[in-house]
This record gives sequence, structure tokens and C-alpha cells, in this order.
Amino acid sequence: MTNADLEGIVDTSDEWIIQRTGIRQRHIAADGETTADLGEKAARMALKNAGIGVDELDMIILATSTPNNTFPATSVEIQHRLGMDHGAAFDSQAVCSGFIFVLTTADQYIRTGFAKRILVIGAETFSRLLDWTDRTTCVLFGDGAGAVVLEASEQEGKPGDRGILTSHLRSDGAHKEKLFVDGGPSTTCTVGHLRMAGREVFRHAVGMITDVIEDAYEATGYSSEDLDWFVPHQANKRIIDASARKLSIAPEKVVITVDHHGNTSAASIPLALCEAVSDGRIQKGNLVMLEAMGGGFTWGSVLLRW
Ligand code: UT7
Repeated sequence: MTNADLEGIVDTSDEWIIQRTGIRQRHIAADGETTADLGEKAARMALKNAGIGVDELDMIILATSTPNNTFPATSVEIQHRLGMDHGAAFDSQAVCSGFIFVLTTADQYIRTGFAKRILVIGAETFSRLLDWTDRTTCVLFGDGAGAVVLEASEQEGKPGDRGILTSHLRSDGAHKEKLFVDGGPSTTCTVGHLRMAGREVFRHAVGMITDVIEDAYEATGYSSEDLDWFVPHQANKRIIDASARKLSIAPEKVVITVDHHGNTSAASIPLALCEAVSDGRIQKGNLVMLEAMGGGFTWGSVLLRW
């Protein structure tokens, strides 16, 4: 769906959307196409790229705020579709920070030896949560899914190791009213619509993002100069640019997909990772910083060596 398509739905313009957000188009799931459908496709691609069979997986963790049903977990449906009847699958919900939270969760299971291989998915159909009469939100979001496979491997416990080097997670419910869905099973018995005080979210975003990235630098001794790639959550190009500027991350190290995906919430980081790995930008051994901030508020960073 292009900005021009949206001009026919709400009082907006291609110029406003590009100038304020950097978004030119987003993808909308087809009628009847669900979060499980998108997640399953991403999962199959990730398993193929990793050369790992479903029988080798111990676990599936899905980050989503737009599950197929209130329950069972959409990850369990994906598990079944993949033909996996061993191990365990569950969903986790931290809205736009969801992928950072599930990546960290999976990493902890691997570090403790609880699991050896975990399929981690971010999949969303935010188009189903949007109020298509509200121009302040409906132009911002899109649907999509991405996935990675994490595998245990012995490392020396040094910053030169491969894999996830450090993770930092934060949340603060004091900001609930700035970005929320006005429905839910326990309140309205409906799905509800996304509501956002965009300017307020924007005001907090850069500070929160840069805080957790600085936490990652402090934990590892690395700095912006050492990064090969910065793969931020793709909400708004202005937020990404301002964060990179504040942290002195060179613009050529920043992976941007918000222009053609919009904000796909928990799917945005794995979608951006997929592009930058597929086109050869991210190479084995590269130092990569991931970060996200979203509803809750929740926010976090993951520093990894690919
Ligand atoms: O991933 C989860 C986290 N979410 C985010 O990171 C989103 C954070 N916020 C943002 O990205 C930005 O605040 C927005 C893109 C949502 C809005 O940009 P802004 O520069 O903060 O604009 P604004 O909300 O201050 O609105 C400016 C004007 C308003 O008109 P008035 O009051 O100045 O006359 C809005 O009514 O733009 C108007 N406006 C629009 N005009 C055309 C709002 N939405 C639209 C629209 N088309 N779609």
C-alpha cells in the first residue's frame, strides 16, 4: 500500500508522510492472511537459510501483539504447521520491542543449557488493529514477519565472541496512555484499535533508545566506532536518524527499511536483518547493534556478533 493509496482513504499526503516518517509504502496482509501465515513463511525461510531441520529445534518463541486468536498462542499453531510435535512454543508480547525481548529470552535459555536451538519469530498484522479513519496512526504501520534461528556454541566469554554479546531490557507502565490498544479480552471483550499520542512517543524515543545502547557499550567496552551495522526498530526515519546522530553512528552503517515496510512492530528488526544479510551487507563476524522502543513503554538493545 503506497502513500498515494492512503490519500484515497484519509486526509493525508505523500509529502507529509515522507517528510514526517520516511515511509513510502507498507505491506498489508491479504484478506484471510494471518499472523501465523506470515510467521510460518518467515520460519521456513530462516530454517532453510540456517540449514536446520524442524526435528533439531527445541523451542519456538514468537513476538507478536497481533496473534491469530487470544489463545492458543500463535507460535503453537506455527509449530504444528511446521510439523513439530516435540519441544515447546510460546508467544511473548512487548509490542514494537517484542523481537528484542524474545531474542533475549531465547539467548538466556541457550546460555543456561535449557535449549540448544531456538526459532525466534517476529510476526504482525497491525493493519487489523488500525483505525482506518485516524490519519495520525493508519499511515504509519504495516504487516510482516521475520525470523532467526539461534544455536548454542562454545565461546570464550570475551567481546570477540560470536552470538549475542549483551542484552538490555527496560519497561515503564507509566507511559501506557501514550501508545495502547483501546480494547482487549479482559476489558472490552473486543480487539480494539491502536491509539497513539505520536508527539509524546517521539519525545521519549530517542532518549530511551540511546540509554540502552549506552548500557550495551558499558557492558562490553565497545563504542559506536566499533559497530559494523546498526539495525534499529523501524518506526520513523527521523527517530532513527536522531538516535544515530546522538550516538555518533555513521549514516552508512544504519540499515533502513521503514521506507518500504512502514512500522511492522515486532517484525521490523528481523525483516531489516533479513534484507541486510541477504544483500551481503551484514557478513559473518560483523558487530551489529539492534534496538527497539514501543508501547508500554518497553525498550531494549541487543549487541551481537553475526
Ligand atoms: O514503534 C512504536 C513507537 N512509535 C513511534 O515511534 C511513533 C513516534 N511518533 C512519530 O513518529 C511522530 O510523532 C508522528 C509521525 C506520529 C507524527 O509526526 P509529528 O511531527 O510528531 O507530527 P504531529 O503529531 O505533531 O502533527 C503535526 C500536524 C498536526 O496538525 P496541526 O495540529 O499542526 O494542524 C496533525 O494533525 O500534522 C497533522 N497530521 C497529519 N497531516 C497529514 C497528523 N497525521 C497526519 C497525516 N497526514 N497522516
